[in-house]
Amino acid sequence: MLLQSDLATSKPTILVTGGAGYIGAHTVHLLLQRGYEVQVVDNLSRGHRHNVDPARLHVVDLADTEALCGVLARHPCEAVIHFAAYIAVGESTRVPELYFRNNVCGSLSLLTAMLRSGVKRMVFSSTAAVYGMPARVPILEDFPYAPVSPYGESKVMVEKILGWFDSLHGLRSISLRYFNASGAEPGGTIGEEHDPETHLIPLAFRAVETGQPLTLFGDDYPTPDGTCIRDYIHVSDLAEAHILALEHLLAGGGSGAFNVGTGTGHSVREVIAAVDAVTGRKTPWVAGPRREGDPAELVASADKLKRMLHWSPRFTSLRDIVATAWEFESRRR
Ligand code: UFG
Repeated sequence: MLLQSDLATSKPTILVTGGAGYIGAHTVHLLLQRGYEVQVVDNLSRGHRHNVDPARLHVVDLADTEALCGVLARHPCEAVIHFAAYIAVGESTRVPELYFRNNVCGSLSLLTAMLRSGVKRMVFSSTAAVYGMPARVPILEDFPYAPVSPYGESKVMVEKILGWFDSLHGLRSISLRYFNASGAEPGGTIGEEHDPETHLIPLAFRAVETGQPLTLFGDDYPTPDGTCIRDYIHVSDLAEAHILALEHLLAGGGSGAFNVGTGTGHSVREVIAAVDAVTGRKTPWVAGPRREGDPAELVASADKLKRMLHWSPRFTSLRDIVATAWEFESRRR
């Protein structure tokens, strides 16, 4: 039985979709640390069973609206944090149907289950890819939607659906547009384990470990060293942004979209230099052609998140971020 004192301190239950993935699992970890009760829905098609406590894992596909309603009936939730989606930009250009079905139809099925169950708050995993090739940086949230891949388009479509659900159903949501998620919680057991891996930092580690050179996608961009510039944001700072967005909604706050990045850009060459410094080895690399759809520079303005949700990143140095990723990599070898 709950005592009055427990009621005063107990925090609500949150449903996390995609909680077996890299960013989702970090966020589940932080939610639990902050005293929330958490239930996870993941179909394990891309996530990892070992990232989630089996007691809170429901292996359910987002397409299965009835099963989602069942989870929400057995575990009444105050809000949903929705990560579950496919994330590979290149794959989305080869099999767009997979991306529209899973990311858009899956989200719609989840939203339908939420409405049927009376859950009216969602924090949504969006992406810098909604901006496509922006004309200037830093990128502000009111820049136009201009995705250049089905992946980016699928996230735009869900953001738009959320806009309609806000005005027509009173379902409040915050879309968090991630820049380059990286690193791992120090001392933790979760890290980047994509299959196939396409992200720069884990691929640079692989090059260090195997001696097989990393291919640097283009060194003729109009940037100081010719390589692409990105905003690398530590995954734990990203997780923190979800908690702040959630608490904003739980406190009755309105819907919106926020960039989640540090506001500082680093080139591919700078990332390689950070990997060299952290591993104490030279990353072998070769310059190759540009990768289709890569903008020269993507750097967030994170001012809105800082101003409105009082977010401030713990990790501001690229070297520290890379060090946490290397710690995870070294532990799992
Ligand atoms: N890169 C290489 N060689 C590689 C891999 C990457 O040179 O083997 C370069 C890319 O060209 C890019 C940078 O490293 O300039 C970072 O590439 P990632 O693939 O790690 O990340 P992206 O910036 O392409 O993608 C990230 C997210 C996507 C999101 C996108 C928003 O992973 O989910 O930002 O634009 F859509």
